[in-house]
Amino acid sequence: MKKFYITTPIYYVNDRPHIGHAYTTIAADVLARFHRQLGEPVFFLTGTDEHGAKVAESAKKAGQSPKEFVDEMSELFILAWRNLNIQYDDFIRTTEERHVEAVQIFMQKLFDCGALYEGVYEGLYCVACERFYTEKELVDGKCPDHLVKPKPIKEKNYFFKLSDYLAKVQALIERDEIMIRPVERKKEVIGLFKQGLQDFSVSREKVRWGIPLPFDPKHNCYVWVEALQNYISAIGYGADDKNYQNWWPADIHLMAKDIIKFHAAYWPAMLLAAGEPVPKEIFAHGFFTINKQKMSKTVGNVIDPNALVETYGSDATRYLLLTQFPFGQDGDIKENLFTEQYNAHLANSLGNLVSRTATLCEKHSVAMPAAAKEDGQDVKGRVKKHLELLQFDGALKEIFGLIYAANKYLDEQAPWKISDEESRRRADVLIQTAGQIRTIAELLDPFMPLASRNILEQFTGPNVKKGISLFPRK
Ligand code: MSP
Repeated sequence: MKKFYITTPIYYVNDRPHIGHAYTTIAADVLARFHRQLGEPVFFLTGTDEHGAKVAESAKKAGQSPKEFVDEMSELFILAWRNLNIQYDDFIRTTEERHVEAVQIFMQKLFDCGALYEGVYEGLYCVACERFYTEKELVDGKCPDHLVKPKPIKEKNYFFKLSDYLAKVQALIERDEIMIRPVERKKEVIGLFKQGLQDFSVSREKVRWGIPLPFDPKHNCYVWVEALQNYISAIGYGADDKNYQNWWPADIHLMAKDIIKFHAAYWPAMLLAAGEPVPKEIFAHGFFTINKQKMSKTVGNVIDPNALVETYGSDATRYLLLTQFPFGQDGDIKENLFTEQYNAHLANSLGNLVSRTATLCEKHSVAMPAAAKEDGQDVKGRVKKHLELLQFDGALKEIFGLIYAANKYLDEQAPWKISDEESRRRADVLIQTAGQIRTIAELLDPFMPLASRNILEQFTGPNVKKGISLFPRK
């Protein structure tokens, strides 16, 4: 049977979770839930990236040991995902023994097959990005993402012979054997290959917070090189072959475009060198601003997903984030419109449809047929298509189209005005609407699992019973 293994990036724990992290994680959760609904075996992995200079510096600033610091910070991610109702199957932390062991096995394999060589690295390193920059890539001598001057670093390193694998990886991408979506991103990646990519360093001599290389323990593994391996360490690479074979390769690595080079070039090359299959797909969505400004601590516009859940609830937060702009593109999150959108779409349209239908069904003791007429087959097909293309907003527009149509039908039929003499007609109208509501709830399940369950509880069984208000007006 077709399985579905989906991953998010593992997030740096130098800082608390923000809605950038939440955005990708919610999208992955929707896909995982959708594939579970289709009956596929699903494995959804997320986690935290806990080694490296950046995290060590943050721990120092916080006056804690790196271990204490990462233990506390990773809990914040777990808590945020619980609040957002993220149903992951595993949460990997790169400080866990299982990860360390798998990385050491993998790195030894790269060393043994001759994919690594020793050299001296002299370059400019941005700690916030945890990566080297060439002069050409800098803007006014500064890292374009963090606007800080990278530090000059000179040290002995092990390098990965990327040049040996580039042509092969490029061909796999061109043939869609590693599918890169959206298609603009595939073009960008091919562009990177055409410009030429340098061999990269896989070790750091001076960064003590990391995983020692088994063949030269004075060196620690470069944080990006070990972080990528979370995707295989979590499923038992080198420890539980059966489980590993069962899930690998990943069906989709989900992320934003900021980290595509690591995933589309370095990672497949490392896997090829180690003789492992490459991921089937890399989907790199866009980057968003908040009310047109780049999200940053200095601007003070970083949004805490827990605060959104506190205000709107987990379902509405998931909905609001995924409907701001088409998934895949860059966009803007207009947080100032959240309340308006919540009231219009969730309280008024969806909430109202469910509550007035349930109220009337209960009041008139309308008996529901065991199997409601199967409605909305074409909408179901279109929602499925949208989700296969990760068009979350497109899928939700289809579902909300059904909601508006059901509300319109109710308004036209006005069952609240139908007298008891016509109770048969009144019951028919309500049964028809209830059937549509069931379809809507089923389609909404991956997006808004709590509301979906709540609706299905009200409308399953012969007697409709009105439940608590789904989306109270704000
Ligand atoms: N630790 C690395 C990933 C290693 S994966 C093997 C890392 N971590 S991160 O904490 O910086 O997370 C980056 C990811 O966070 C992005 O790829 C994206 O998924 C998400 N986002 C962070 N800010 C975002 C926006 N403003 N917009 C969209 N996605 C955002 O990189």
